[in-house]
Amino acid sequence: MSLAEFIAGLPKAELHLHIEGSLEPELMFELARRNRIALPFASVEAVRAAYAFSNLQDFLDIYYQGAGVLQTEDDFRDLALAYFRRVAADGCRHVELFFDPQTHTDRGIPFAVAADGLLAGMAQAEASFGITAKLILCFLRHLDEDAAFATLRAAEPYLDRIAAVGLDSSELGHPPAKFARVYQAAAERGLKRVAHAGEEGPPDYVWEALDLLHVDRIDHGNRSLEDAALVKRLAAEAMTLTVCPLSNLKLCVVSDMAAHPLKRMLDLGLHATINSDDPAYFGGYLADNWLAVTQSLGLTRPDLITLARNSFSGSFLAPAEIARHLAAIDAYAEAHPA
Ligand code: ADE
Ligand code: ZN
Repeated sequence: MSLAEFIAGLPKAELHLHIEGSLEPELMFELARRNRIALPFASVEAVRAAYAFSNLQDFLDIYYQGAGVLQTEDDFRDLALAYFRRVAADGCRHVELFFDPQTHTDRGIPFAVAADGLLAGMAQAEASFGITAKLILCFLRHLDEDAAFATLRAAEPYLDRIAAVGLDSSELGHPPAKFARVYQAAAERGLKRVAHAGEEGPPDYVWEALDLLHVDRIDHGNRSLEDAALVKRLAAEAMTLTVCPLSNLKLCVVSDMAAHPLKRMLDLGLHATINSDDPAYFGGYLADNWLAVTQSLGLTRPDLITLARNSFSGSFLAPAEIARHLAAIDAYAEAHPA
């Protein structure tokens, strides 16, 4: 059995996926046609050719532009279903997906249109592909605290169907501290908390996410490795890091996949996971990310089993559900000895 086959069959969860970042150019054109929206690209090939980024902001500019084709509940449902159909083939069993409500409400699309469409796609994915899913509402950190509070208010009728809040968009210059009060309000409403930190931002932002936002997971966290005391803290707390290898390569967070810190994170005892971030933009879905780091870093089967276990133990599933997935991983490992 090849490593690719072993990875595809291994039960896995995805904990860092921006659903707007799964918008493939083909669907972008279909939705643009459906909604009579003009795109600044002549063809699918021209869109793909524009996906050359030198940093996070380069990518975000084109990602927010692409999301403009999403207009109706059906558009959001179709977007989610296309993603779930794709990762069903990757052996993905559970997804905790981000959405960026402000990207939509700021262009006049009501919160409910995005939320209802995504929730419909999630329900259909469970029925059709057996993939369970949880929804995470992300605040755009380049916008202000008032806007984040307004988004939390808009989410009020949906709080029973939203697992957590997150923090994404331009990291540098927008430290977690800016959102401490919003995160406090989210906690009071029973929501879990995650935040992007240490992707481009310094280790201090990871400390702030821990100490001021009281997060349950750190999204990315790469730059934590620059601070030995922080590594010690993250390891001691078994803090899950949702690491995104192909994203890191495309956004020049790492220069080369062989220099990716994932293996070092595992060796340091960090609770790392593998995720795709924005798969339509970064050249690969969940299993592609697994295969890329496995090949470039020489990950072993025990490493892969650890990473698969981390993806469920770091999830917001109930303990009994986590135990069921961990047992499935153990059974798979036993059935496929190295
Ligand atoms: N929004 C979508 N992908 C992102 C990333 N990798 N970092 C910050 N914001 C994002
Ligand atoms: Zn992300």
